[in-house]
Amino acid sequence: MSYPYQIKSLAQYHDDYKKSAEDPEAFWGDVASNFYWRKKWDKVLDWNFTEPKIEWFKGGKLNITENCIDRHLATMADKPAIIWEPNNPEERVRVVTYARLHKRVCQVAQMLVNNGVKKGDRVCIYMGMVPELAYAILGCARIGAIHSVIFGGFSAQSIADRLYDAQAEFIITCDGAFRGGKDIPLKSVIDDALIGNRTVKRVIVYTRTRTPVSMIKGRDVWWEDEMDYAETQVEKDGKVFFPAEEMDAEDPLFILYTSGSTGKPKGVVHTIGGYMVWTAYTFVNVFQYQPGDVHFCTADIGWITGHSYIVYGPLAAGATSMMFEGIPSWPDAGRFWEIVQKHKVNCIYTAPTAIRSLMSYGTAPVEGKDLSSLKVLGTVGEPINEEAWHWYDENIGKKACPIVDTWWQTETGGTLISNLAGVTPGIPSWASLPMPGVQPLLVDERGHEITEKDEHGHLKGNLCIKAPWPGILRTTWGDHERCRTNYFATYPGLYFTGDGALKDEGGNYRITGRVDDVLNISGHRIGTAEVENAINMHSGVVESAVVGYPHDIKGQGIYAFVIYNGHHGDENLRRQDISLTVSKIIGPIAKPDKIQFVTGLPKTRSGKIMRRILRKIAEGEIANLGDTTTLLDPGVVDEIKDGKL
Ligand code: WTA
Repeated sequence: MSYPYQIKSLAQYHDDYKKSAEDPEAFWGDVASNFYWRKKWDKVLDWNFTEPKIEWFKGGKLNITENCIDRHLATMADKPAIIWEPNNPEERVRVVTYARLHKRVCQVAQMLVNNGVKKGDRVCIYMGMVPELAYAILGCARIGAIHSVIFGGFSAQSIADRLYDAQAEFIITCDGAFRGGKDIPLKSVIDDALIGNRTVKRVIVYTRTRTPVSMIKGRDVWWEDEMDYAETQVEKDGKVFFPAEEMDAEDPLFILYTSGSTGKPKGVVHTIGGYMVWTAYTFVNVFQYQPGDVHFCTADIGWITGHSYIVYGPLAAGATSMMFEGIPSWPDAGRFWEIVQKHKVNCIYTAPTAIRSLMSYGTAPVEGKDLSSLKVLGTVGEPINEEAWHWYDENIGKKACPIVDTWWQTETGGTLISNLAGVTPGIPSWASLPMPGVQPLLVDERGHEITEKDEHGHLKGNLCIKAPWPGILRTTWGDHERCRTNYFATYPGLYFTGDGALKDEGGNYRITGRVDDVLNISGHRIGTAEVENAINMHSGVVESAVVGYPHDIKGQGIYAFVIYNGHHGDENLRRQDISLTVSKIIGPIAKPDKIQFVTGLPKTRSGKIMRRILRKIAEGEIANLGDTTTLLDPGVVDEIKDGKL
């Protein structure tokens, strides 16, 4: 596999960037011609950000699994597509070649058809990090079903909401998942999610932990039985084959739910053609992937990073993708480095929160590990602080590996701003330059372009993008208006990211964090309104307000101010009750780090909570709270300040 679209020098970057801005249709048409299309597109791009309507490669016919698997078979059948490292290092590694992946995906496709899944149906996937998760995703894509993967840390209630929103009729899950020293009972969470559900017809259960599970006749079936039967159907003359469904470039590929500033997570929809081109293009360019390299993205496939840089991007580029079932700190804090040594990993791509947490163990877990295979390091998910950047650079990269700081979002499909490893310069804690095809703009509150520099010579504002790139979201599932109001209405004519950023004279961007009510906890997105709704579900809670505060390891922590009415137990017990309620409603990832009981919240005369003040208090900036004269009851602020945790 060679990549004619791989950028090889800084000069070429500037050249390609210019071409992509001047004539996006010619530029992306060229890139897309490196993929396998059953029929070429009618038009490369058609768009407006008013509706919004965004169409890339419309009329083009393809199946993404033919691009991710079939077209590699002639030359790379025996090359590893996925190397799977189990949670328990004593257990056997699984190396899935492209030929094996093809076979399994064909089997899954047949299995899904046998169970009544049709093109366009929604299949919810709730599994641990096992290769079968990748087979399940690709099996859906092969028959044109729309997958919706839900991260294992979400509760039954969250799953129920997502099943309802997507009107999903099928679920693929595991009995349980291994994560460090724990077994997570996935099927039992699904059972709870299905109480009262009216749409789901079939649940396919893959056996991983062999935890006892309930199996409902007529609804629940075992993956192993279904796969065995499917194999007998798809095997002819010793070859397994299931024909891929012909899809339009603009047919939906998947839904992935993500948090915004309103209470309910929204189902971000990506379509096939643009997403494929964007993930492969950014994968090959950002990481400077070379054929034969082993790419290790440590994310969970339940998040967009896993979708784009474990599964679709690498496979579309014919790469070898590492998939790790466990966690970085188990059995000890040297696990990542053990994996790098064992599998001669060339690129490791992880989150700043993981780096900070591993830093806290010192360098002992790194010592004695042979990390000489590493060529590129990457980070994603949140701003990386300089201390973590330097630790990563010195101890892992040994100052010889470029670090790519990739800024992007669930909605963007793949990286929008990042240095390209070894090709464009990296600057600690700056995401740096936009990818070709990406035209950022910094605006003020009213949407005017920022032109005045601050005292450091930087432009500072809200980060917007002027025009579509192939991987941009197309809609939010079942509610296009929500997509418009969330992303395209704040600043008419622009895609608003929700992030703030700085820009320096060289055109480099530094992402400073969210400017809306979205928190970034250990690189996971959670809306403050979502957490407040969950806290308010607790029977003793009258009202609550949630803000983020700086947290050494997680980046941000969740600080909840709660008005409580009741007498059940002491404060600590009540805090635990509230945490458990949040765990049940959203999932353990949204549990507050701090809960402060208060008798009132700072509100304006019109009843709006002044979060600015709460944020300052949570951040410990008590001396400088700004103007509090517009508050209904300024006295409440003193009480909150005094009670700060
Ligand atoms: C944040 C994850 C700074 C940002 C791929 C964004 C980052 C949100 C970076 C999206 C980075 C992601 N530097 N901040 N390199 N990467 N973010 O949807 O606030 O889970 O809006 O996508 O993470 O989170 P999401």
